[in-house]
Amino acid sequence: MYASLKSIGSYVPEKIMTNHDFEKIIDTSDEWIQKRTGIAERRIAAEDQTTSDLGALAAKKAIERADIDKSEIDMVICATLSPDYLCMPSTACVICEKIGISNVMAFDVSAACSGFVYILQIAKSFIESGTKKNILLIGAEKISTLVDYTDRGTCILFGDGAGAAIISATEDKNEAILDIHASADGTYADLLITPGCGTKNPCSHDMVDNKLQYIKMSGNEVFKVAVKTLTQDVVDILENNQIQSSDIDIFIPHQANLRIIEAVRAKLNFPKEKTVFTVGKYGNTSAASIPMAINDAYEEGRLKHGDLMLLDTFGGGFTWASALVRFGGK
Ligand code: ACO
Repeated sequence: MYASLKSIGSYVPEKIMTNHDFEKIIDTSDEWIQKRTGIAERRIAAEDQTTSDLGALAAKKAIERADIDKSEIDMVICATLSPDYLCMPSTACVICEKIGISNVMAFDVSAACSGFVYILQIAKSFIESGTKKNILLIGAEKISTLVDYTDRGTCILFGDGAGAAIISATEDKNEAILDIHASADGTYADLLITPGCGTKNPCSHDMVDNKLQYIKMSGNEVFKVAVKTLTQDVVDILENNQIQSSDIDIFIPHQANLRIIEAVRAKLNFPKEKTVFTVGKYGNTSAASIPMAINDAYEEGRLKHGDLMLLDTFGGGFTWASALVRFGGK
């Protein structure tokens, strides 16, 4: 039995925040942001929209496209670093309630930007072991609530959005998830961190006054490790599976920064036309970035049944992951 990515869906909030909007609130320019990151605009969720609202809308689309009834879904996993609630209930449980799924195993995974490929690995294992048949995966973020809009080094990077996929059991290897490599190294934890609101710095007036609830990032150091790790991870997964980079139909990297994507693409010699770029219009949507990029490629008609996708991601933790996935959708 193999696991197949049968369908994809996404949702992006209506509100667009452009670089020119940032020029009005911090000392920056459209030119600086475009040159250093490739980002022109990003989506920002409405005040009353939660991460689960975004995730539920993406999930509905993925279920519709999978051509299954939601009663056939036997597990739901949500990857997010911006859950509706800090401790409980999980965002996966809230999404289940919103889309009308009950009595199935549902939980969240915290692996920052690598979250979606991490949960893909979990789904693959549950399906290959014969334990589950149709798993709903969601990567959803309302990351705008974790961003300090006075910190010009981070606030320009992030955006809100959600992506979702149905992973189903199949006997056909030509539509299977072939391999996933996911890993982490906690020695880099301090380079990309939200220091507040957990047990280390519990909620308090002092914590809020010191803005510890927001993302803190040593951008330059993260950049260097990201390029090195994203490149090596791809080299390893291709070698382990004896696949040449020319065999890849579509390269879908984490959308954090255009310069990171271009550095990795150049090192691996992937043609531009086989690479997906969404960072310019969405910014970094963390765990939602990969499924949103797969969705855009699908909607643009760039993905056919059986196409070999290479996913590659990196995020806080540090965590990273790559995957070789044959598209199982129609
Ligand atoms: N506008 C204008 N100037 C700025 C801005 C801004 N928005 N932000 C920083 N600067 C300034 C800095 O203050 C600094 O000025 P100084 O030289 O006077 O001190 C100068 O620009 C250079 O700053 P750097 O931080 O060295 O700029 P860099 O070229 O590294 O670009 C960036 C910064 C875009 C953040 C980059 O480092 C980056 O993309 N890092 C990686 C982010 C990432 O990939 N994260 C991964 C995953 S995220 C997750 O898991 C949630």
